[in-house]
Amino acid sequence: MESHLEKQNRDVLQKSFEEMISTLPKENCWGFPEDQYQYQGFWFTPPFLQGALSAQQQFQAQPTDIILCSSPRTGTTWLKSLTFATITRTSYNDSTTPLLSKMPHDVVPFMEFDHAQFSTNRHLGIPLLATHLPYSFLPISTIDSGCKLIYICRDPKDTFVSFYHFIAGHCKSQNTQPIQLDEAFELFYEGVSLFGPYWDHVLGYWKASLERPDKLMFLKYEDLVEDTVLYLKKTAEFMGYPFSSEEQQQGVLENIVKMCSFDNLSGLEVNKTGRHREGKGNLATENNIFFRNWKVGDWKNYLTTEMAQRLDQRTLQKLSGSGLSL
Ligand code: A3P
Repeated sequence: MESHLEKQNRDVLQKSFEEMISTLPKENCWGFPEDQYQYQGFWFTPPFLQGALSAQQQFQAQPTDIILCSSPRTGTTWLKSLTFATITRTSYNDSTTPLLSKMPHDVVPFMEFDHAQFSTNRHLGIPLLATHLPYSFLPISTIDSGCKLIYICRDPKDTFVSFYHFIAGHCKSQNTQPIQLDEAFELFYEGVSLFGPYWDHVLGYWKASLERPDKLMFLKYEDLVEDTVLYLKKTAEFMGYPFSSEEQQQGVLENIVKMCSFDNLSGLEVNKTGRHREGKGNLATENNIFFRNWKVGDWKNYLTTEMAQRLDQRTLQKLSGSGLSL
């Protein structure tokens, strides 16, 4: 629970953030009830930007923290469940893990939305946190403390299609008019999407991962789909929670992968019928919106050849010279 003083500080800060945000360039798009604002090259809705500014001022990372970083719709929910199950594997098993009764976003809070910058809102026994913030927005303590960051990204075409469905589903649940796919495509292409431009988000973390490979692990959703056991093993080692050879022989890794699989998680009652951030206005949503179909290449069912080529071209141009391909 947040203390009285923390709440008072938050109110004062919020007011100054609101004043600053009202001066920024804005767009009303994607069918969101509120405007999106451009700040330091990236697009945000006000609650997320306020959260970002608040986290920058208040969040104190611990050297032991592990922060899961991503753009929306690139595998955040899955990465949260896999890392949470890995870190807590000696406290819980398949039948006692909190993942059976809480959705992954409720066991690993977001630094910028869940007031995790206040230590009282964190589960201090579990060093995991998440963020959708671009690398250049991270609170300075996440770099100075030497804590670890794991970034996950995904093919921009699948990311866009997944994001489009997420927004359309969210609009439906809020009784607002969903945006047309063609219109959404143009916005994404131009970089006007939540926490976008998508490529700039990816590049910020990619460059940092080259500079600080011991502190920033860079993952791709497609690799994780192709060999989940291998990439989870690498991730566990990076986090400092390696699987012992005994655990590997006992199939502990495979059990975690199975427990966190799309089929298993999406079939749990909490993820089928539960709600997330209930009572938080536009941020409230149904848990099932986070689970769609997880297929790599699903963009083929939604984008024309021309759209796909345009987006690929954009990706090539944006990532040119970086050594990264998506
Ligand atoms: P699709 O919309 O392509 O199905 P995020 O968690 O960052 O919002 O990403 C959501 C994407 O990850 C969605 O992709 C969702 O279906 C997929 N996803 C969610 N849980 C998953 C899981 N356990 N395993 C694999 N993919 C998962």
